[in-house]
Amino acid sequence: MVDFHSHILPGIDDGSQSVDESIKMLKSSWEQGVRTIVATPHYYASDESVDSFLKRRDRSFDMLQKELENISFDVPNIVLGAEVYFFNSMGHSDDIKKLSIGNTKYILVEMPFSPWTTSTINEIYSIMSKNMIPIIAHIERYFNQEKKSGKIEELMDTDVFIQMNCEYINDIFTRRKALKLIENNIINVIGSDCHNLSNRTPNMGKAISIIENKLGYDMIENIYNTSMYILK
Ligand SMILES: [Fe+2]
Repeated sequence: MVDFHSHILPGIDDGSQSVDESIKMLKSSWEQGVRTIVATPHYYASDESVDSFLKRRDRSFDMLQKELENISFDVPNIVLGAEVYFFNSMGHSDDIKKLSIGNTKYILVEMPFSPWTTSTINEIYSIMSKNMIPIIAHIERYFNQEKKSGKIEELMDTDVFIQMNCEYINDIFTRRKALKLIENNIINVIGSDCHNLSNRTPNMGKAISIIENKLGYDMIENIYNTSMYILK
């Protein structure tokens, strides 16, 4: 499987704090069936320029790569990306193309945690007019906030892709809703959003087996195929 959302790069955000922790997270991901992991450290336009962020990301990735040359077990292939926090006029920024996943036109976008407006949705359209496709990160986080606004439905009417965190599938209290969304093809890709080895750990394995048990292997294949389609 492909983990589309992770904070496995060391020392760059609130995710992994060391190369050692990153390697353990990667090892755990591999053992759970993950073969490709998209590294998506947080990017906040209010804090730094895209170029400064990319420099930090390259440094972090190089440090990790160097240590990975010395290990004797398998780890997933890493594709570089970012979790880009929504900002006004992001659709007009030429720099955001640099934050896309690998060499693709897809970009992982974290939506605002304040009520969405018409201009929020219009910003998403602006991104798409630049021939980029937003993948909306952890859609489940916005369900409560946008329950009455109808904005999630509006967002889904655009051509965005939708990512769900495995925690929403693994949690017994939200599982039914998560599976319904997957069954109805609302969710395109899934991710662990793993940050560490304590409370936000790699957790794709459990989610994959729940989906397989409840919805069948075809659904796993479906998500896998979409993931590979994006990465190509
Ligand atoms: Fe995240």
